[in-house]
Amino acid sequence: MTGPIRVRAPGKVNLALSVGPLRADGYHDLATVFHAVSLYDEIEVAEGAGLQVMVSGEGADLVEPGPANLAHRALALLAERAGIRPDVHATLVKAIPVAAGMAGGSADAAAALAAGAALWRTRAEIDLTSLAADLGSDVPFALRGGTAVGTGRGERLTPVLCRGEFHWVLALSRTTLSTPAVYAELDRLRGDRGEEPPPPVVPDDLMQALRDGDARALGRALSNDLQEAAISLRPELSRVLEAGTDLGALGALVSGSGPTCAFLARDADHALDIAAALTSTPEIRSVRCARGPVPGARVVTSG
Ligand code: C5P
Repeated sequence: MTGPIRVRAPGKVNLALSVGPLRADGYHDLATVFHAVSLYDEIEVAEGAGLQVMVSGEGADLVEPGPANLAHRALALLAERAGIRPDVHATLVKAIPVAAGMAGGSADAAAALAAGAALWRTRAEIDLTSLAADLGSDVPFALRGGTAVGTGRGERLTPVLCRGEFHWVLALSRTTLSTPAVYAELDRLRGDRGEEPPPPVVPDDLMQALRDGDARALGRALSNDLQEAAISLRPELSRVLEAGTDLGALGALVSGSGPTCAFLARDADHALDIAAALTSTPEIRSVRCARGPVPGARVVTSG
């Protein structure tokens, strides 16, 4: 064994999130375009007696402690599959906002899988992607990163050809949203309208914008079926989206199930300008600049 090992994993925004009907297993069929952005959670693992996960950083007090924690579950699952005892002490440092639609918990699970695999030098036949899918719909993407289409419940990935780099401003909310509550709200709104959701699709104009590396076209093509539901639960999000649009963002949308809002900028300087101006918006707790796409869970240093 070696250690300590440090791994970081990125948060994501969904450039498109098309949600189909509720399935019998409680999930919804999706067609989504995941895009990993440069806001990272980091985990450090080292040999220890028993399995322990400590959490610090952004929103650490909101993170589920103990065996319910996704990093904890990931390490336990990997050890079980590898047939070893999970004697590991892990420290998680969060920068991705918690319960905010950026898949922070999934990043933690992906980082824990990659760190555990490096620490224990697990056998190559243990497929981390399939363990990742068992841990959550967004975990396979957090392992892989980049830009990818997700289908099924989001766990089936196809990489997307994406030219260049895009610059984002992320408006972090003063509140959190529970992902199941936002999906349930979407079902309720659709039910009230007597709407049958069509099969989920990825928009062609979005794929073309990514292939062309065209930020303006990408800004116009961003879409999220969960946005209406997130705004229904947190009406103040419309003001946040409006504020970014008024500041000249090329596109604005709720990230995943929210409440983080993502704004696409022309370039890094434009992102800084939007971020600086947004900080005075009362509904926003803080603002981050990030670029994408970035790789998924990767070892930072190993000793
Ligand atoms: O897979 P994960 O544990 O991240 O999903 C959290 C919850 O989000 C699910 O229990 C479900 O309520 C909702 N969800 C969904 N359809 C998806 C993904 C998540 O309804 N495709």
